[in-house]
Parts: sequence; structure tokens; C-alpha cells
Amino acid sequence: MKIFKTGIIGCGRIGSILEEDPLRGKPCTHTGGFSALSNVKIVAGCDIDEDRLKKFGQKWKVKNLYTDYHDMLRDNALDILCIATWTNQHATMALDGIRAGVKGIFCEKPIDVDIKLARKLVRTCKQKNIPLLINHERRWDAYYQKAYKLIQAGKIGEIRTIIGNALSSKPGSLPVSQYGGGPLFHDGTHLIDLLLYFGGPIKWVSGHVTRPKGKRYIEETARAMIGFQNNATGFIEGGGARKYFNFELDIQGSEGRLLIGNAGRELYVTQKSKRFKGFQELEKIPFPEPKRYETPFIGGAREMVKSIRKPGDSTGEDALKTLETIYTIYKSAQQKGKRLRIK
Ligand SMILES: NC(=O)c1ccc[n+]([C@@H]2O[C@H](COP(=O)([O-])OP(=O)(O)OC[C@H]3O[C@@H](n4cnc5c(N)ncnc54)[C@H](O)[C@@H]3O)[C@@H](O)[C@H]2O)c1
Repeated sequence: MKIFKTGIIGCGRIGSILEEDPLRGKPCTHTGGFSALSNVKIVAGCDIDEDRLKKFGQKWKVKNLYTDYHDMLRDNALDILCIATWTNQHATMALDGIRAGVKGIFCEKPIDVDIKLARKLVRTCKQKNIPLLINHERRWDAYYQKAYKLIQAGKIGEIRTIIGNALSSKPGSLPVSQYGGGPLFHDGTHLIDLLLYFGGPIKWVSGHVTRPKGKRYIEETARAMIGFQNNATGFIEGGGARKYFNFELDIQGSEGRLLIGNAGRELYVTQKSKRFKGFQELEKIPFPEPKRYETPFIGGAREMVKSIRKPGDSTGEDALKTLETIYTIYKSAQQKGKRLRIK
């Protein structure tokens, strides 16, 4: 059996540390996900934080540890490069990985802060036939896959409206130049990715953004109205100064409704009303359970290995569309919500 030699850059929260959160379903990190596969071996790890690096090495029994990722790429003929560092380094590291000869790249979301670099990365991967997957992890979650299948099978009819929330508390004073954006960028990237997954290509956006700390800082709240190519409409909100975190999509169709998010799932279909003669109403029915469930970190790692042989899901191209949509929402907000087309 071929063993895929994997190296990870970034031994922080999503790379390794979140595995210690007792409440999360396991595995919930990239090292955990890749380690769960028998045909993958994590052979090397890299972090500029020596303390984190040492703990990573001890926890996962990885001996080849580096504080400079160039050294890691040079010394280990990696099949898979996993990038779990800060967003403004993703594309540069991925391009260096390609130069070093890796066969596949699994990278955290968003694809990058710099859209030009993100485009260059996607172009290079295409030219060199290197699979690039971006961790919009719900695409590998069996419940979201079930929701997709239900919608494709016409269970709620044609999609008319999608309401998406990625609600969170007020962010700190972080500069746009380094962080790219606020809640719409960091959590909203999952939301936009799922809007594209469920609703298909987006035609236009109209954005409204609040930046109480000034233009140079990330937004507190971003709201947008979205037009899909299939004439459905989306309404989304990222941030919103809430005391809680809530991630949810409310997908309303011509014959039913499907809600899915961190709090659970609900499915409604059209039925003859039991309350009013001659009316049709929505009735809640059980959301069908998937046959088996594993955390999307295993699904993502498995998809990466599979992608080395044939194209996978949640690709760099998908993530680039998401980033382009987010930046167009910001641009529209600067123009007082002017409706802007997505190319
Ligand atoms: N998919 C998700 O739901 C999810 C959740 C959390 C974070 N993320 C994404 O993961 C990325 C990392 O976030 P995090 O919360 O784990 O951050 P983090 O700060 O906990 O971890 C990042 C690690 O990268 C290391 N690092 C930074 N520059 C480096 C370099 N040049 N070489 C080697 N190591 C370097 C840091 O020292 C740190 O340990 C971000 O892009 C974030 O958007 C995604």
C-alpha cells in the first residue's frame, strides 16, 4: 500500500491544539484527520513557535521538526503538504510546496488574503495538475452532504431563498491589510462556500458593512443581498455583534424548507393544512440520518488522498470564487450597496 508522506506547516489550534478541547468531536484538527488514515504518515511538522512545535512532536510522535518550512520541504520528499498557518501566508507556502515537488496541497480557509496570489496559486495548480483542497470542511460533513442530496432530489422543490448567518461577537481592532477582513471573511467564507454549494453560481451582490473602528480595520458586521444565476435570492450576515456564535443556513424552496447549521438540522415539506381547509402548509418531518458519521477532518484528509488520483471537492477554484464574492461584497459596500456583478 502506498503511504502518503505528509508534512504540516502550523502546529497551532486547527493544526493540532484543538484536539485538546474536550467538547469537540474528534478528530478536529488536520494532524488528527490525516493521522486517522492508514495510508498517510505525518513525517514532519513546522512552526515558528518552538514551544508549540515541541508539544506537537511529542503528541503525534513526529521526529522531523522545523522552524523554517523551506527546510521541511527540502529535507522530506512530501506527497502532501498541509498548510494551517495564518491566512496571509497560505498561497506563498503552497507555491513553495509546488516548487519542492509535493503531489497535493491541503490548505486552511480562506485561500489567502491576497486575491492575486490566490489566482496565481489556482492557475499554477491547474497547469501542473496538483490538487489543491481548501478546508471549507462542511463539504465533507455527512449531514451537509445529505442536505445537498435532498435538495438535488427535489425534496424542497426549487430553491427560492437562502438566508445565511455567521453571527459572532465584536472583533478586535485588526488591520485589513494583514487580516483581509472580519467575520464575513473568516467565518463567512464557510457561509459563502455553502451558498455556492447549495445555490450554485452567484450573479451579483449588494453589500452593507459597518466599520466602527475606521476603514483600516476589519468590519464588525457585513450584510449582503445576493442574486444567484438560477434567480434565487440570498441574504447573509456575518458578525453582527452578538453574544453568541451561530452558523446557520435556512434554505427555502418552492415545496419545502431545510435548515442546517451548528445547532442542528430541520426539514419541512408541503402538506395539506390540518388547520385551514384548502391551504397548503409546511410540516416538519425527520431529517434523514446519514448512514455513518465521521468528523469532516477525516473526510477532508481522505478527499486529499483521493484527489491525487482524481478531482475532488472543495477545490482551490471553489475557494477562489468564495474569496472573489467576499471581496465584491466589501467593494459594493464602499459604493453604498451598489449591485455588482460577479465575473
Ligand atoms: N476551518 C476552520 O473552521 C478553521 C478554524 C480555525 C482556524 N482556521 C484557519 O486556520 C488558519 C490558522 O488558524 P489557527 O486558529 O489555527 O491559528 P493559530 O495562530 O492557532 O495557528 C497558526 C500557527 O501557525 C504558526 N505560524 C505562523 N507563521 C508561520 C510560519 N511562517 N511558519 C511556520 N509556522 C507558522 C503560528 O506560530 C501558529 O502556531 C487560519 O487561516 C484560519 O483562518 C480555520
